[in-house]
This record gives sequence, C-alpha cells and structure tokens, in this order.
Amino acid sequence: MQAFIENMPKAELHLHIEGTFEPELMFEIAQRNNIDLPYADVEALRKAYDFSQLQDFLDIYYQGMNVLQKEQDYYDLTWAYLQRIYAQNVIHTEIFFDPQGHTSRGVAFETALNGIYRALEAGQKELGISFGLIMCFLRHLDADDAMATLEQALPHKDKIIGVGLDSSELGHPPEKFTEVFKKAKEEGFLIVAHAGEEGPPDYVYQALDLLKVDRIDHGNRALEDKALTKRIADEGIALTVCPLSNLKLCVVDDLKNHPMREMLQAGLKATMNSDDPAYFGGYMNENYIQLAEALRLTQEEIVTLARNGFEAAFVSDERKQVMLSNLDAFVSAA
Ligand code: HPA
Ligand code: ZN
Repeated sequence: MQAFIENMPKAELHLHIEGTFEPELMFEIAQRNNIDLPYADVEALRKAYDFSQLQDFLDIYYQGMNVLQKEQDYYDLTWAYLQRIYAQNVIHTEIFFDPQGHTSRGVAFETALNGIYRALEAGQKELGISFGLIMCFLRHLDADDAMATLEQALPHKDKIIGVGLDSSELGHPPEKFTEVFKKAKEEGFLIVAHAGEEGPPDYVYQALDLLKVDRIDHGNRALEDKALTKRIADEGIALTVCPLSNLKLCVVDDLKNHPMREMLQAGLKATMNSDDPAYFGGYMNENYIQLAEALRLTQEEIVTLARNGFEAAFVSDERKQVMLSNLDAFVSAA
C-alpha cells in the first residue's frame, strides 16, 4: 500500500506555504537576513513543535515567517516545497499565503506575491506541477484590515484565483468577514474558508451562508450536525481535510479516531492534504500512509480521496480530465 500511495498521482488543495518552512531553510534565510532566531539550532526549533491546540502552533508559525523579507526568500521557500511534492507525485497544488503576515512587518504585498508566484511558474514549467494561488485573510485581525488586503490584491487577479480565511478560529466567526467576502466574490475570486477545525458547526453554516464558500478547509466539526453534513454532501462542497495537522493540533486524539472514513461514508467529498507539513510531521504521502495505516483504508478509499482532490481542484475542465485520466491509468496499471 505504501508504494501504491507514493506512486499515485495526487492533488494538494490545503497547504499554507509559510507552513512548509523547514527549520534548516529557516536558519539559512535568517542568517543571510541577519535575523536572530530565539532557538540555538535546528534541533531546538523542532523540539518547540509540540502543540496542544491551534494557537500554540500559530504563535510559532508567525514567528517563523518573520525571517522572510526579500522576494528571493519567498521564491526559495516555495521552490523547496515544489521539489518535495514533485518527489511525492503531487501533480497539482493550490497553495495559501497569508499576505498580512508579511505586510504587517513592512514587507510589500508584491514582494511576497512575486517570489511565490515566480517559483510556482518555474514549478509548472520545469516540474509539470499545475497550481493555483489563494490568499488568506487572518481572522484574528479586523475586517477593515482584511478589506485593505483585498484591495491590494485587485491588481493581481491574474495571479490569485481565490481568497480564504485562516488563523485563530474560536472567537472569530466567518460572519465577521461577510462584507469582505461579498466584495471578493463580486471581484471574481473563488472562495474558501477554514471552518469547523476548532470552531462549532455554526461557523460552518456561516461559511456556507454568509461567505458562500466553494470549498471548506477542514470541516471536521460539521459531522456533529447531521443536517449540515447532509447539506454539504448534497451540495457537493469539498472538504480539504488534513489528518496529521488534526493529530498535531489535537483536533483528534489519535489517527485511529480520525473521521476521514466517516466523511466518505456520509457522501462528503473529502480530500487529503498536508496543511503545514514542516510543522506537522509530513507532506502528502506521509498523510496518506499514516492515515491508511491507522484506519486500514482500502485501496478504493485511497483512490477516492485522490479522485476527490482532482475533482475539487480549481482548474479548467481540460486539466481536470487530464489529471483524472492519469489517476485512472495509474490504478489500471497497479
Ligand atoms: N488553521 C488555521 N490557520 C492556519 C492553519 C490552520 O490549520 N495553518 C496555518 N494557518
Ligand atoms: Zn490550514
């Protein structure tokens, strides 16, 4: 099963590029930017990756991204990620970035955007990995800040396909951003939002009804509400699920108790994703392999997760068909 997973073509739809910052690269970039990290070495930094809830992780995640200053830093970060997923047979990726995590430190929106985008273009050309770029609003900041960030993105609609909502969920419900997402939709952006990771089912309802999401990021807690689960299934709205993230942030206490199979059985279009792989202990293949082992997923369930990833991707029908055909050919030959 491990070789099957490793060789299977995959799409990743929930990935924070700032969450791919491996300690080795973080130290390297910190050094060239003359920034002191509050850790003696790579080992000490990795030891700090012990979280009991989302906020514990976010504190370290924002601290880590502080070393990103120049366009080349963003390029190097993104290129390192693309090389890793290329080795894992990920053929399409939709990545998030958090502009406010950079502009709040005086880094220009375009510095982050151009570095990330240039690497994505190189990945498409040199590695054949298709991509989409989604910018997320930090929900712990106010709605005016998010609106100002949306304005900054308007000249770059050719590079940014969608907007999302991330950071501290509890206490920051989707309704706080209704106006921002209304404007984003009018401007033609696709819409996603983190909902139901730590927040209650009501936040998932708000994401659907007020933000009008095209996909839900995480969505685990939607399962607590049968009517909500049925609605998401009926509307065919995909969930971008992240098992190792759920484990590391204590959304689940054990991978054996992960709700992925329950989601599939409820008819939800659940997909497999890595979220912040440098912090959570694994990229796509590790997520698939560890969950498959814990839940004893069948090959059919594994292929369904991969197929859901391609079906839920924000790509042209043409690209979607190519990717689905790749998967079908792989399964037939396996
Ligand atoms: N949840 C919320 N915000 C985030 C996450 C997450 O899993 N990763 C990076 N920012
Ligand atoms: Zn996330």
